[in-house]
Amino acid sequence: MERFFCPNCQRFYPPQPTPWRCDCGSFLDLEFEPRFPIKKILKRSSTLWRYREAIPIHSDQSVISLNEGFTPLEEIEFNGYRVLLKIDYLFPTGSYKDRGATVLISKMKEWGVHKVVEDSSGNAGSAIAAYCAKAQIECDIYVPEYTSPGKLIQIRAYGATLKKIQGSREKTAEKAMEAASKIPYASHCWNPFFLHGTKTFAFEVWEQMDWKTPDTLVLPIGHGTLFLGAYIGFKELNQAGMVKKIPKMVGVQSVACAPLYQAFEEGWRETRPIEKKETIAEGIAIAEPVRGRQLLEVIRETGGEVLVVTEKEIKGAQKEMGLKGHFIEPTSAATIAGLKKYLRKKRRKETIISTLTGMGLKSVEKML
Ligand SMILES: Cc1ncc(COP(=O)(O)O)c(C=O)c1O
Ligand SMILES: [Zn+2]
Repeated sequence: MERFFCPNCQRFYPPQPTPWRCDCGSFLDLEFEPRFPIKKILKRSSTLWRYREAIPIHSDQSVISLNEGFTPLEEIEFNGYRVLLKIDYLFPTGSYKDRGATVLISKMKEWGVHKVVEDSSGNAGSAIAAYCAKAQIECDIYVPEYTSPGKLIQIRAYGATLKKIQGSREKTAEKAMEAASKIPYASHCWNPFFLHGTKTFAFEVWEQMDWKTPDTLVLPIGHGTLFLGAYIGFKELNQAGMVKKIPKMVGVQSVACAPLYQAFEEGWRETRPIEKKETIAEGIAIAEPVRGRQLLEVIRETGGEVLVVTEKEIKGAQKEMGLKGHFIEPTSAATIAGLKKYLRKKRRKETIISTLTGMGLKSVEKML
């Protein structure tokens, strides 16, 4: 049976909708033992739920699914280098956040929750709202008022109550946390069940690469929920004896908001508050990542690094991907700009996986 675990003060809690953090203030992790029965996996339909025994939902009746996942792994060339990209904008809500939302909202359903609250830069809110609609769970989604209109309309379309907050992303999180004193908090950054959905990124890559591990993952970091999920996935596969190694984890941030880059370069154990500037990459404009310490540990443990990209590089990467047939949002283009930077120092035979996290239609106004 799984349990919540505080990596700061080593306390355990039974998994439940509240409290959403440890009494010491830290985020919580989930202790869980997955299984990977390959023969069964191969017989199932191509959704992320094919890894059923590795997803911590007890009853199949609780599973809230929109047939998400098992996204294509496409080979793309950049300056003569071959890279494999997970096309994660092909999720039902147009971003990879559905990986986490399908599992977290299934857990909320299993717990018998009737209403949740979440805060987001837009995409996580859309994903939580969609799965709540399917689960018949009421939800309030808090977003900064500057969020792309496409994402706001999408959240409303799923029947969620939209709470637009004046001020920063951090102010938005504060308001949601106040509400979370009374309503279960379906937070993608605090609740570890979200990471036990995003970890399916690793399982899919493993299967699509003929049950092997790539050398390097180049992924975005805002709160780092895909980054940490991918690490947890490969760690679980490694601990279960299914793969021999864990990939090098390389994170990408915007120059305008790079708390991880700063902390990594300075050799700090924790991120420190930064002053963020405007960026078109709204999804990774996170000045205070909840799991900053954990992200730094993962980057150091795997021999990874953090790269930063400018607004000009983000726009350039977005145009380049369009010309390759992929219309992605600027946050997603930031990862590709980082990938291109990484390729300049690539080792000869390194297998690199990256991702397209968000659909371009979500933020056309900002592009205009
Ligand atoms: C399209 C897209 N890519 C990447 C990210 C970054 O995700 P995270 O904050 O979990 O690192 C986000 C977050 O909102 C996003 O919307
Ligand atoms: Zn604690």
